[in-house]
Amino acid sequence: MRNQRLYINTIGCQMNVYDSDRIARALEPGGYQQTHVLDEADLVIVNTCAIRAKAEQKAFSFIGRLARMKRQNPDLLIGVGGCVAQQEGEAILSRMPQVDLVFGTHAIPRLPQIVNQVKTRRIKVVDVEQSDGIDEIDLAAGFHDDGQVSRCLTIRQCCDNYCTYCVVPYVRGAEMSRHPDRILSEIETLVRGGVREVTLLGQNVNSYGRKEGLPSFAELLERVNGIEGLHRIRFTTSHPKDLSDDLMEAFGQLRKLCPHIHLPVQSGSDQILKRMNRRYTHQLYLDRIERLRSIRSDIAVTSDFIVGFPGESREDFEATLALMETVAFDSVFAFMYSDRKIAPASHFKNKVNEDEIKKRLQELLSTQETITMRKNRALVGTFQEVMVEGNSTRPGLAEAIDDGPQWSGRTPGNKIVNFNMGRKVDPEDALSVGQLVEVRIEKAYAHSLRGGLVRKEAPTGCPGGKDCHAA
Ligand code: 5AD
Ligand code: SF4
Repeated sequence: MRNQRLYINTIGCQMNVYDSDRIARALEPGGYQQTHVLDEADLVIVNTCAIRAKAEQKAFSFIGRLARMKRQNPDLLIGVGGCVAQQEGEAILSRMPQVDLVFGTHAIPRLPQIVNQVKTRRIKVVDVEQSDGIDEIDLAAGFHDDGQVSRCLTIRQCCDNYCTYCVVPYVRGAEMSRHPDRILSEIETLVRGGVREVTLLGQNVNSYGRKEGLPSFAELLERVNGIEGLHRIRFTTSHPKDLSDDLMEAFGQLRKLCPHIHLPVQSGSDQILKRMNRRYTHQLYLDRIERLRSIRSDIAVTSDFIVGFPGESREDFEATLALMETVAFDSVFAFMYSDRKIAPASHFKNKVNEDEIKKRLQELLSTQETITMRKNRALVGTFQEVMVEGNSTRPGLAEAIDDGPQWSGRTPGNKIVNFNMGRKVDPEDALSVGQLVEVRIEKAYAHSLRGGLVRKEAPTGCPGGKDCHAA
């Protein structure tokens, strides 16, 4: 009998990407092999996200399209997981009769039994039970090298912060941290399989271990930094109120910790921050950025913004634009405020009308575009450590083709760099994925940089920026 084919559609955040990997891993022993071709699937799983209405609509419209596939192939199984499944449970089955299984965010370890029940007993199953502990299926179990040098792993589930616009604390349950030993052993296995960069994930990684009395996040980073063979550590997401001195100092102390922090601010207006229940002021945010930059001057800072939160006046919005200019973010994600029934802000008065929200979003994005371009141009002429991620396929590189093969990778500050080997290097002498090289930045674009290879190994502890070449 041929292997069964599993197709997963992942919607939303990086944590869902990690969960999709865990889903694939959980189903593998039962003979399910992942495919990227929808038409050849025997089981389709939609890993959903409930954070904004748009993400939820995307999931439902994809499941809607699967109904036709199911009519043509009644043996096809359709599963819905993730936050929407957790939140809606049974209701998904009545709304979408083509669905066979609905499983919540805590049910991934039980998936083999759920799928088996659906198949052998020809019944529909809903499992949205939340567990008290951590649902351990680490990627290390049965990990095989698939050529990916950069991997994400969740170190902390859920969130207890209750920002008034956010569904996460209501659908994902109470926050929980994974034990450091499990995290360490998972990373060590990944590194043995060829992974060179890990991104530690959690809705708020800064408060890692606090509730459980485990080592702090800064201590965890120090242990990860000691893993031989690992080149780079990243993490996301941080909450400004929980950014400890220890963690900020780690950027000056841990060689493998990339100088990049994603620190969502959401708004630059204190009255909006208060209504969002963010528990910091714009001044505290600015102080934290100043301190981070005093520790690591080249640190890249990125952020999330919500535009048009209920009650946001023009003045509030201008405070946001002013904060953007003051901080000069490297890049930002900006979202139109989206009412979520379950979150308190959906009952707030003074909703901003949609046209106005769209206008503000455009204004915010164009302000940021100018800042990003300015920051990228400032990197021209600098020498950067780049971790090779693959051959570059980006258009616009034809002019450099004479200089040999094109490669792409990222700087420590997480900027994409496309680069060529340079005339001095034998073009046959290929680079390998995961290798750290030194690249001189020659051109800046809105979303990437272009450069030339300087040498095929990066100076040890290369800090990036101008000092790098001198090291
Ligand atoms: N509306 C718009 N954006 C939201 N986010 C979270 N909830 C909402 C909502 N209801 C954004 C925040 C968060 C990011 C992951 O999604 O900016 O940082
Ligand atoms: Fe949601 Fe706030 Fe928790 Fe982030 S910190 S997941 S926005 S409640």
